[in-house]
Amino acid sequence: MMERIAVVGSGYVGLVTGSCFAELGNKVICVDNDSAKIGALQKGKVPIYEPGLSALILKNVKAGRLSFSSDLRPAVRDSKVIFIAVGTPPRRRGEADLTAVENVSEEIARYMDSYRLIVEKSTVPIDTGTWVENTVKAFKKRNVSFDIASNPEFLREGTAIHDFMHPDRIVLGVGSDRARKILLKLYEPMKAPKLVTDVRSAELIKHASNSFLAMKISFINAVSRVCDLSGADVEKVAEGMGLDRRIGADFLKAGIGYGGFCFPKDLAAFIHICERLGYRPDILKAVVRVNEQQKKFFVETIKRRLWNLHSKSIAVLGLSFKPHTDDVRLSPAIDIVKMLRKEGASVRGFDPKAMEKARPELRGVCLCKDVYEAVRDADAVVIATDWPQFKKMDLRRVKALVKRPIIIDGRNMFDTARMKKMGFDYISIGRT
Ligand code: UDX
Repeated sequence: MMERIAVVGSGYVGLVTGSCFAELGNKVICVDNDSAKIGALQKGKVPIYEPGLSALILKNVKAGRLSFSSDLRPAVRDSKVIFIAVGTPPRRRGEADLTAVENVSEEIARYMDSYRLIVEKSTVPIDTGTWVENTVKAFKKRNVSFDIASNPEFLREGTAIHDFMHPDRIVLGVGSDRARKILLKLYEPMKAPKLVTDVRSAELIKHASNSFLAMKISFINAVSRVCDLSGADVEKVAEGMGLDRRIGADFLKAGIGYGGFCFPKDLAAFIHICERLGYRPDILKAVVRVNEQQKKFFVETIKRRLWNLHSKSIAVLGLSFKPHTDDVRLSPAIDIVKMLRKEGASVRGFDPKAMEKARPELRGVCLCKDVYEAVRDADAVVIATDWPQFKKMDLRRVKALVKRPIIIDGRNMFDTARMKKMGFDYISIGRT
């Protein structure tokens, strides 16, 4: 049976959740208080680049299963399940700012006129469920009942729709049988294992999972430094480690550090939660420290090759925090461009998708129309994001265009022997 669903917050998570639930046959209304964004969505314009999302939205709007509104009242009135997917941006000390979650909870409470299941989808600190519950209790009409649940999202940008439809697991944190039944029914079409827990454990699963993945990246980045110093090859080391099923091969790719809006923010929030609870999370702090060091070390590597960076021209290929997205939030590529500029280098950047979003972040940087324009007369070419397009670039043409054939690859995209044979001075991460 189809369910009536409201998704509050039309960012990455909200739009993907809303359109995927519509695709599964439910009637979904996506809400956001940014009326310009909602106006654009109503005209079929999707504000973010996510492969397949536009088509999915258009298809489901056409089928009458998906609509958009800047007014929460009708959405709450017409839906039984309400997902909260609003932003939880970091405050200065890393803790998540939950003002939007609180405001939405209060509004939902005021508009509810019969039972509603309110589900946290945003990544939130342990305890948020209780706060949402208390807020709804305080503002709801007297005879209206409700449940709170936590259903964390594990989708990755760039493969978000696939991740939603084919997750490794579905985590359902509930406090009542009624909530459990509604959510299990909603997710019935999906084959993934469903883990039903209490609300707090579900909240913690999200933080612990993201931190563990970030730890894998920092771990292999630390190993890459040892490889640099000892002459070992980090790709082989990672392969050898990953074949052990207890370790697993994923998220062992050395590079210039993790970025994006999830890992850095979630880690900072988790550290804050631990400290608030009275636990000193040394392991999490080390993960963050290694990630920061990795970017600085990369810039040092560039410096070691070019001596002074002052008035050197450096082409930076890739600005998004990873390929297949236009997202530049907390992108290590952007940090590296800024560090290079601080050293006095002039930077020419190119990214297949993220140029518009990078522009306001990178004033003074020449953003070029393609790889070849970016590398023209460069003292060095830096690869900062592993876009597959870069793998296919015409290296002979690159070599003819640059001033010096130095490629410093922060994503280990090319075979070292082949690059050397082509006459490049090719430096990568943890490989000699
Ligand atoms: C992440 C989590 O994977 C997802 O489960 C969660 O819901 C949100 O945060 P996302 O931020 O979209 O998703 O990106 P992800 O693909 O996980 O990559 C994060 C960063 O780590 C990127 O900057 C990427 O380049 C880097 N990374 C990833 C590595 O440096 N090495 C790796 O082996 C994997």
